[in-house]
Amino acid sequence: MAVAVLLVTLALSATISSQEVFENSTHICQKCTCIDEARFTLDCQNQTFHNTIAEWPKHNVPLLATFSYNNIVHLEILPQSDKVIDLVFSHCNIKSMDNGVFKAVRNVQFVDLSFNALTTEEIGPEKFKGPYNDTQYEPLNVNHLDISYNQIHSLPHNIFEHLKNLRQLNLEGNHFKVLDIPTQTALSSVIYLESLNLANNELTELVGDAIKDLKHLKDINLAYNKLNEVPETLSYVGNTLEFLNLNSNPIFEFTDESFLGVQSIIELTLTNLSRLTYVHANTFSPIERLKILHLHSNINLFSINSEAFGARQGLKEMYLQDNALSTLSYNLTNWLTLDLLNLSGNQFYCTCDIYKIRHDLNQIITRDKDGPVCVDYITGNSKMLYELEEKDCEEEEYEFSYDPIIEKHYFLKKLLLTFINEQKLQLCNTGVVQSDNKFYSLIDYQRGQKVHSRDIFKIGLPYRI
Ligand SMILES: *[C@@H]1O[C@H](CO)[C@@H](O)[C@H](O)[C@H]1NC(C)=O
Ligand SMILES: *[C@@H]1O[C@H](CO)[C@@H](O)[C@H](O)[C@H]1NC(C)=O
Ligand SMILES: *[C@@H]1O[C@H](CO)[C@@H](O)[C@H](O)[C@H]1NC(C)=O
Ligand SMILES: *[C@@H]1O[C@H](CO)[C@@H](O)[C@H](O)[C@H]1NC(C)=O
Ligand SMILES: *[C@@H]1O[C@H](CO)[C@@H](O)[C@H](O)[C@H]1NC(C)=O
Ligand SMILES: *[C@@H]1O[C@H](CO)[C@@H](O)[C@H](O)[C@H]1NC(C)=O
Repeated sequence: MAVAVLLVTLALSATISSQEVFENSTHICQKCTCIDEARFTLDCQNQTFHNTIAEWPKHNVPLLATFSYNNIVHLEILPQSDKVIDLVFSHCNIKSMDNGVFKAVRNVQFVDLSFNALTTEEIGPEKFKGPYNDTQYEPLNVNHLDISYNQIHSLPHNIFEHLKNLRQLNLEGNHFKVLDIPTQTALSSVIYLESLNLANNELTELVGDAIKDLKHLKDINLAYNKLNEVPETLSYVGNTLEFLNLNSNPIFEFTDESFLGVQSIIELTLTNLSRLTYVHANTFSPIERLKILHLHSNINLFSINSEAFGARQGLKEMYLQDNALSTLSYNLTNWLTLDLLNLSGNQFYCTCDIYKIRHDLNQIITRDKDGPVCVDYITGNSKMLYELEEKDCEEEEYEFSYDPIIEKHYFLKKLLLTFINEQKLQLCNTGVVQSDNKFYSLIDYQRGQKVHSRDIFKIGLPYRI
């Protein structure tokens, strides 16, 4: 009996899917929320819909239609409209779509298919065909396609055949391990692309051929991948790229080569890089236009070289919180240009450099009373970093040159440095990296400038080799 019922049910659902059943939309605004303003909003979230609606509610203005959180396993051809349309079908368990699913909404400009179960096989070019006009399929005007959080490992090479106008493409949270040749062909066909999100995949590199034809690319998100270094192929888009996100990758150092050729970046995001220990000299100098730097929550980042920035760079916002920094060189950057500086959650000593930095900062920043602390190395007491005064900096200063010491032990130290560089990943929790950091500080002092007594104390100790 149960089997019979099951069979009947199966037979029924088969007939249903072959006949293209639609949700009854006669009184759609009683089920869903409708707001008829400058833009008509149709919100049909959480309606237990299994199908596309039969007709749009009457609208004389652009339409935003949201169908998130329904259970539409197969997305059928959408009803006709000539108005500009934005469509959201996220979290709908969509596994497949009709060919030409958007062909009756020829002015669709935004399509969100995120958090579904689409695979490479289900996103061929025939899905995105526009209306047929006697001779050929007209292109769709979609400029934003979001297929993040599906099960896509490769793009069909001609997927964008009917989507030549694409400006923003979101591929986050899929199964890309490499950008294979079909994917490279697909990406290089959307020449107007401005924004590409590849975050949360499993990429170990960014193949140059995937991006080298994207002459308008402004924004690339590579966070949560498996990149060991900044992809040098980014220089292909170095004249246009303005936003770069490399968060949560296994990148372990930044050097003067990391950002070579990406001079136009304005905002750079480098957080949660748990293998990062040191930022070398001239790391950021090539990025002439840099204004906003998110270099925070890097739990092993002990030191930033005093020459990490270029002489003419003037940043607006610098986020350095929650690193493991113990010092910061006054020479690092021009502190006067900053509108925002976050130094919270580090392990700073109260050095003269910190006092001088605080002295230069503009008032908006120094007034932040919940601000970060530093530790007085003599007393061990914490002080509010932004309340340091000149007297905290007034102890005797000696004219010291470290050159002879450094010369004398140069060879040994070079050996040590080589050793540390090779070992620091394994040793990063044993304190050796701390000495590594201080070695670099010592190099900074090589120029024989005035050295503060407490700084001598600090850098002297680890170097009795
Ligand atoms: C749609 O629902 C309305 C009532 O809401 C009903 O009058 C109409 O017959 C239904 N149409 C179809 C095709 O089932
Ligand atoms: C729809 O359901 C999801 C999951 O149950 C929930 O997170 C979301 O807030 C709901 N949205 C609305 C508008 O009710
Ligand atoms: C069909 O569309 C193409 C491409 O948009 C266009 O060049 C052509 O003129 C159109 N033909 C007709 C008959 O509308
Ligand atoms: C930090 O990155 C690791 C992978 O390197 C990831 O597993 C973790 O979720 C990230 N943490 C945050 C807060 O983003
Ligand atoms: C900081 O800059 C001054 C002036 O340019 C220079 O004399 C000094 O050596 C620099 N200090 C460090 C630690 O680089
Ligand atoms: C600075 O960082 C701390 C710690 O992450 C955070 O709580 C605070 O909101 C940040 N302040 C600003 C101005 O970004």
